Amino acid sequence: MKNTVLTFAKAKEEKTKLSMLTAYDYSTARLINDAGINSILVGDSLGNVVLGYEDTVSVTVEDIIHHTKAVSRGAKDALVIADMPFMSYQTCVYDAVVNAGRLMKEGRANAVKLEGGVEVADRIKAIVDAGIPVCAHIGLTPQSINAFGGHKVQGKTEKAAKKLLEDALAVEKAGAFAVVIEAVPEKLATLITKKLNIVTIGIGAGNGCDGQVLVYQDMLGMFSDFTPKFVKKYANIGEMMTNVFKKYDEEVKSCAFPAKEHTFKIDDDIIEKLY
Ligand code: KIV
Repeated sequence: MKNTVLTFAKAKEEKTKLSMLTAYDYSTARLINDAGINSILVGDSLGNVVLGYEDTVSVTVEDIIHHTKAVSRGAKDALVIADMPFMSYQTCVYDAVVNAGRLMKEGRANAVKLEGGVEVADRIKAIVDAGIPVCAHIGLTPQSINAFGGHKVQGKTEKAAKKLLEDALAVEKAGAFAVVIEAVPEKLATLITKKLNIVTIGIGAGNGCDGQVLVYQDMLGMFSDFTPKFVKKYANIGEMMTNVFKKYDEEVKSCAFPAKEHTFKIDDDIIEKLY
């Protein structure tokens, strides 16, 4: 059955946990969907793990639309959330609504996600008023990496913790149906979760959130440029892939591949006529 914003609201009410993973293509989306994961985020982490950028700043609306189209075709049941890239909503309310609309109309997303708290509350409200569900994202917000000066845990001082709580309350008031909380001490994320009526999805925010999200290449050991402390490596598929690619290389060079069972036949008579 299709997961919707109502599934998220019900999970909060019934205190059942929600699972979310990123995906950027059709076949991965199908695998994640078929595993029963509630939601797929077409994150702008696309910039790092798929496009090879150092950060998410260069990701465009076109990039996210292109990958969301593929993911939405593979996600029959999972709720597809498309990330709004850097400068697609920071500029003004008008840009925010137009770009959120493109992710829904062209990408076929079920919801959008954007980063920020109090300062983007007017954009969240306008997008929600246009009939588009919004997932907010507070704490470490990677699009602001240049302002933060690096990937740092957020909300550790009293002032910063208060600001995070204000941000969470502001995005809820603006109409967001969920909020991702990234790289925040567990006790603070748990407190925010208790204060909110909407779902919190943690990444590096401990076990007290209503759900969890991970970048799938991180959890499968397929991306080694950097691995945050909060990532659990469930498998080392990256190493497995390298070994398989090596084997293929050896077999191509030794003519072990392709074997007879991988080839097509033609009558010898026909071939002889061509010599
Ligand atoms: O872009 C992304 O993948 C994200 C998650 C890390 C939450 O925003």
